[in-house]
Amino acid sequence: MGELRVSKSELVDSYGRVHRDLRVSLTDRCSLRCTYCMPADFSDWIANDSLLTTDELLTVIGVAVDSGITQVRLTGGEPLLRRDIVDVIRGINALPQPPRISLTTNALRLAEVAQDLKDAGLQRVNVSLDTLSAERFKAMTHRDRFNDVIEGIKAAQAAGLTPLKVNSVLLKGVNDDEAIPLLRHALENDWNLRFIEQMPLDAGDLWARPVMVTADDIQSELEREFTLTPVPTRGSAPAEEFYVNGGPATVGIIASVTRPFCSACDRLRLTADGQFRNCLFARDETDVRSIMRSDSSQEEKIQGVRDILQVVTKAKLPGHGINDPNFIKPDRPMSAIGG
Ligand code: 5AD
Ligand code: SF4
Repeated sequence: MGELRVSKSELVDSYGRVHRDLRVSLTDRCSLRCTYCMPADFSDWIANDSLLTTDELLTVIGVAVDSGITQVRLTGGEPLLRRDIVDVIRGINALPQPPRISLTTNALRLAEVAQDLKDAGLQRVNVSLDTLSAERFKAMTHRDRFNDVIEGIKAAQAAGLTPLKVNSVLLKGVNDDEAIPLLRHALENDWNLRFIEQMPLDAGDLWARPVMVTADDIQSELEREFTLTPVPTRGSAPAEEFYVNGGPATVGIIASVTRPFCSACDRLRLTADGQFRNCLFARDETDVRSIMRSDSSQEEKIQGVRDILQVVTKAKLPGHGINDPNFIKPDRPMSAIGG
């Protein structure tokens, strides 16, 4: 596929945004139950036979890479719950023009697999961690696994899955007193910390603007202890980065709600059950699983996926509309779409 091509094709939408980043949810299952993500008794899982197989995944990702994707981020749910995760990474890395590969994980299995992931071609990990207290971790995730996360982070750093990024979501009255301790700890341990504003994407009905911790809140809290100076080059990155105390260490804030960055967005998404989406908040998605499972030849399937990718990209709206009065949450939670 495309090995002899001289110029690579591009995925350009009708606003001129070029899409280079594909987020792939490998499973909607998770080993934690973060309160802002899914209710403790969540049970509306995608059926196993609806999840893309590794071969199907690699074909679809291969088409995406041939169409202009240069960065693949594996997410979930919890992507390390996928038993063949190492094969998935090895397969992506074996594509003709392999993309950069990163993975967003809760780190519970990371200590076990970090080195294998690195050897298979993974470059970086993003670990989700919202608190430095084991007690709070248990309350916020419904699982007593804080130490596993810390061990997982250390293993990732030892394996060279760096820079090690840590994502934190602050919730009012729960862990919003931890912005400063989290950053202090990050600086001491070489974590690249980013705070993410809570988004209306949970599987329940938890999000409410009046109670969310905003980027302004986080910035002014951090400025009580640190000097923050904006890093000028942002590009399509969702995080606004700040030098801490003059640098070189930085802290990021991902303010999807109060400072939307849609105009620079270069991301497309593939759900665990094989649907393309052009935005986390899109109201619709386009099925590629049924193309992969049709009787067509492999060439026809590849052409079908290629065409759909173009259509999905072209249909992308200018923004997510969270701030419109008539905003409607997507039908599916983030764990199914992929963070
Ligand atoms: N709002 C903001 N961030 C969320 N995450 C999961 N659900 C939400 C939400 N509703 C975070 C996770 C993880 C990343 C992929 O997204 O904590 O770090
Ligand atoms: Fe699992 Fe991530 Fe959701 Fe937490 S936020 S329950 S780690 S998918």
